[in-house]
Amino acid sequence: PPLDEILNLHDFEAVAKVVLPPKAWAYYSSASDDEIAIRENRAAYQRVCFLPRILRDVTSVDWSTTILGQKSSLPVYISATALGKLGHPDGELNLTRAAAKHGIIQMIPTLASCSFDEIVDAAQPGQPLFLQLYVNRDRSLTKKYVQHAERRGVKGLFITVDAPQLGRREKDMRMKFVDESGTAKVQEGQDGVKKNEGIARAISSFIDPSLSWKDIPWFKSITNMPIILKGVSTPSDAIKAYEAGVQGIVLSNHGGRQLDSSRSGLENLVDVVAALKTHMQWPNPNFSIFVDGGVRRASDVLKALALGASAVGVGRGFLYAFSAYGQEGVERAVEILRDEFEMNMRLLGAQTLSDIGPDMVDASGLRAR
Ligand code: FNR
Repeated sequence: PPLDEILNLHDFEAVAKVVLPPKAWAYYSSASDDEIAIRENRAAYQRVCFLPRILRDVTSVDWSTTILGQKSSLPVYISATALGKLGHPDGELNLTRAAAKHGIIQMIPTLASCSFDEIVDAAQPGQPLFLQLYVNRDRSLTKKYVQHAERRGVKGLFITVDAPQLGRREKDMRMKFVDESGTAKVQEGQDGVKKNEGIARAISSFIDPSLSWKDIPWFKSITNMPIILKGVSTPSDAIKAYEAGVQGIVLSNHGGRQLDSSRSGLENLVDVVAALKTHMQWPNPNFSIFVDGGVRRASDVLKALALGASAVGVGRGFLYAFSAYGQEGVERAVEILRDEFEMNMRLLGAQTLSDIGPDMVDASGLRAR
């Protein structure tokens, strides 16, 4: 369908499913094991209700914010999703260019299809970018990569901590590495990775499973970028992260692609905020909580902000948008979210994001399952 018939972010998924090559669809849409976590990511948002306020003069409403000190036109950033060229020949550059046009922030994946420098070169002067980091077994390579990113102006380092081993995404694994004749090739690379276990496993063998809390001081010693741990679930790990001196965490189950049945970021948010409140001054300008997983509407974002998130990451929403329509698709996705923010904030009775607080939602449904 023409782009102006796309009315919400779900529509991009429906188009992507039809237009993407089966291998790409399998890699992008898959989640681990029985795909419980990915379903719960969506379901969690449906269990939080709004408590809107009336008669508050909502002629002008403003949903702009800052994320790690960087201006963003929406309280939403583009979360890292690997292998953008499976979906579109311009890959991640679709996101970079659309982000520039609409003033939002892209998180560059370690496993991007375009090279890191290609992406940074495609950005406008001063356009803020974040970097997602998979930590290499060879730390000297990681150090080089991080310091290069900082020199090139990256504004935040998101270290992925929920992937010491890649989850089993069976939809992806079933595609195998298929050759021209359509027969599956079973190969084993030098690294011992079986190349017949799907795209995800084939590309991720360099990731260091020995990564631990002991490494955090080292990361702090090699960079001045804010460090955020991506893939935190529990209050105790959130407190550990704060005490380790990082600048924030992403409550995330990796879009349901890692440990299946791990709770959604939104559900963990309530417990994590409650625990942090007993531990530190909250809200805290030096420690931010981000949430991702299943966010497809501005109303989802507003629920997470009400419960204490500073901003929210969207992965597949933007990935499907450029897979289906390239850069224009991503721009349309941002415009759709912008219109949704305007309407939802008016209907909620909020003029700015600082009006959005826990008194505007009923989250008891998260507990009443
Ligand atoms: C991801 N995600 C991810 N995260 C990460 O830290 N490094 C990575 O390389 C990737 N790659 C990746 C590929 C694909 C195809 C998807 C769908 C996701 C996870 C991503 O950053 C984010 O946590 C989730 O995508 C959020 O969930 P939604 O928005 O996709 O529901």
